[in-house]
Amino acid sequence: MSQPTTSDAGAAPKRVRVHHLREAKKAGRRLTMLTAYDLPTARIFDAAGVDMLLVGDSMGDNVLGHENTLPVTLDEMIPAARAVARGARRAFVVADLPFGTYEASPAQAHASAVRMMKEAGVHAVKIEGGHRIAAQVELLTQSGIPVVGHLGFTPQSENLLGGKRIQGRGDAADRLKADALALQDAGAVAVVLEMVPAPVARDVTEFLHIPTIGIGAGPDCDGQVLVWLDMAGMGDWSPRFAKQFGQVGAALSAAARDYVAEVTGGTYPGPEHSYES
Ligand code: KIV
Repeated sequence: MSQPTTSDAGAAPKRVRVHHLREAKKAGRRLTMLTAYDLPTARIFDAAGVDMLLVGDSMGDNVLGHENTLPVTLDEMIPAARAVARGARRAFVVADLPFGTYEASPAQAHASAVRMMKEAGVHAVKIEGGHRIAAQVELLTQSGIPVVGHLGFTPQSENLLGGKRIQGRGDAADRLKADALALQDAGAVAVVLEMVPAPVARDVTEFLHIPTIGIGAGPDCDGQVLVWLDMAGMGDWSPRFAKQFGQVGAALSAAARDYVAEVTGGTYPGPEHSYES
């Protein structure tokens, strides 16, 4: 999606909003989304023109050192989401509602989403599931809270799904399509499709009028999302669907090694880093 233009040079960039997402789909402009969990990455991705920042509960395995997303709490997500929202001048900021904070009832989802909106200042929440959470999507939408859906491999259900597996193959494709429609009918503003066969994601993208954002769902979605550490080459492993667009982990490691060498070798700090009396 091209940057919305501003009339005054130097003015704050125009914020990406829900109607821009719909317009991008209509115009065939690809949307971009990356995860962010803190202020510095939010600033960098926002300035790079990323349309949407996702404060994902992937924070659990990528930042907090958990095995998966399940242990992440709302109290952990809110400060991260607040930092990202503060760092984003243009991007539409979406925060995950973590496992256990919305599934039980629309009222539970409402209480969690209101906390996220009020305390973090994000622009939308994301929740996982189709038909089973349609009533939640409806109530949040009626309350003025934009909701992004998430179908296919839904990490919060990884124990039920039998691990990280492609979803929507064979007969399951029809169920996934019905779930996508249920989310749209309930008012979702976009749907993430994770680890879904490319032809199924293409079909869903064609019949929905809200944008699909793919991750491991082929090239025909309306947009793409990646966990930023996978995108930037921060770790030693990333999933097959994630291209590394940089080697940031190696660059950071080299900088840290140089720092250690210069401090222990006595070459840093030099006179230019020191103050006169
Ligand atoms: O939590 C997350 O980062 C996500 C993306 C993988 C879509 O849900």
